[in-house]
Amino acid sequence: MNNASAPHSDPPPCAECTRRSVLLGVGAAAAVVAAGCASGSADSGPMRVALAEIPVGGGRIFSQQGLVVTQPTPGDIRAFSAVCPHQGCAVGKVGDTIECPCHGSKFSIADGSVLRGPAREPLAARAVTIEATEVVVS
Ligand code: FES
Repeated sequence: MNNASAPHSDPPPCAECTRRSVLLGVGAAAAVVAAGCASGSADSGPMRVALAEIPVGGGRIFSQQGLVVTQPTPGDIRAFSAVCPHQGCAVGKVGDTIECPCHGSKFSIADGSVLRGPAREPLAARAVTIEATEVVVS
């Protein structure tokens, strides 16, 4: 008898990430977007964004740069990799938490820590400086 119900330990990789990696296999944008689905960082240089574009008590996702920039309290700017440490999906939503659409992990906008699994590791923090009215993420 062929028993096809053998248990498996992990779900398959994020379908969106796999699709992106295949579709964007060439061109300059491939490195940035593919990095968003990998465990490494997007080494595309500093990103600048107007401070006014980052909502207090929330944040914004910059998909092409693979970054999430948050402002948990006024003037307190944080940045994280947008790559979910669970299986490499790009996080998809920022409100009072950062949410991964693939398996439902949630992360703190203050420090990237895991608020709800299955992720066990926090989002990777990125260095942030404020220059006048701009946020610079390196
Ligand atoms: S990839 Fe599984 S929760 Fe994000």
